[in-house]
Amino acid sequence: MSVLVDRIGQLVTLDPADPDRPTRNDAALVIDGGHVAWVGDAADAPAADERLDADGRAVIPGFVDSHNHLVFAGDRADEWEARMTGAPYTAGGIRRTVEATRAASDDELRATLGRHIAEAHRQGITTLEVKSGYGLTVNDEARAVRLAREVTDEVTFLGAHVVPADHADDRQGYVDLVCGAMLAACAPHARWVDVFIDSGAFTVDEARRILTAGREAGLGLRVHAGQLAADGGVALAVDLGAASVDHATHLTDADVDALARSSTVATLLPLVEFSTRQPYPDARRLIDAGVTVAIATDTNPGSNYSSSMTTAIALAIRDMGMTPLEAVTAATRGGAAALRRDDIGHLGVGARGDLVVLDAPDHRWIGYRVGVPLVAETVVAGQRETS
Ligand code: NIG
Ligand code: FE
Repeated sequence: MSVLVDRIGQLVTLDPADPDRPTRNDAALVIDGGHVAWVGDAADAPAADERLDADGRAVIPGFVDSHNHLVFAGDRADEWEARMTGAPYTAGGIRRTVEATRAASDDELRATLGRHIAEAHRQGITTLEVKSGYGLTVNDEARAVRLAREVTDEVTFLGAHVVPADHADDRQGYVDLVCGAMLAACAPHARWVDVFIDSGAFTVDEARRILTAGREAGLGLRVHAGQLAADGGVALAVDLGAASVDHATHLTDADVDALARSSTVATLLPLVEFSTRQPYPDARRLIDAGVTVAIATDTNPGSNYSSSMTTAIALAIRDMGMTPLEAVTAATRGGAAALRRDDIGHLGVGARGDLVVLDAPDHRWIGYRVGVPLVAETVVAGQRETS
């Protein structure tokens, strides 16, 4: 089954094979068998089985949201409200979600997860990474990665989210458990292992042990670091060859240099800064240094409960020094790089047919019309999902 997408206002391909032409006018595109089969001038478009008439609207690659915590129960709206009047964000709130998540049934968790996946698709997100991290026992973490695996291939084992209350006096024992029985139970269902490095979570030394064990179990590495302070996590992530270091808000010059010399992506999460009233990361500094930057939503009940990638893009443009095209690139190709994928995040020939039709003539309107639902249609592997 082939689909011709034509009458496109602006086509944002971000094709890595055509780096000097990230956007095109008067272009059309054909998806065949779930993948982009042809991109070119509309006048030369071949015939296809079906037609998607973009009617002058922009077409961009589907968003790749490479950082989410979606296997959870309950909410923490009270913490958010307190932050709005000056209370700080701390990792401590995670334990409240752990308690609610442990008490929930598989079906309850599955239903919440399904609602979030549908919500993400409605907002143009066509690939989602999902982390565990609100179970923190062998069985509860294994359940979380199994449920996540039902909805995505990009599953991350985050047993090292915080030390749970039941191990408060035995950090060492908890790290041993994460590296041992928990990892063994989770690794078969996961692609990645992640650690939250923070004064309220894990130290760099603990993270090194956990990530090394994860790597030995065949998992790729991701790290939460630099959310609330420059904490040494970036150097560790680069040293271990992690695919991504996430948050990356507080960075030393040495961190920026190390990232620039590595293939580790800096995944920025501006909705977290918005929801925790923290200063935004300086994306300009990273891009100018040559660091690959991604933007993700980090949807979770604590530090940010918005899944709006378009809002994240608008914040990145307004407050992080990114141009509109850099921000859209970070939310698509950047996310793909953070997941070490080259088949998504762009619309070059051979890429998966994941795209968004915007209710706007070009990509700049995402920031220009912040807060307005501009995602008219989300297409995943050539399948239309009207929203
Ligand atoms: O990425 N920072 C650590 N983990 C999440 C927040 C989790 C929570 O507060 O429940 C994050 O921001
Ligand atoms: Fe996170």
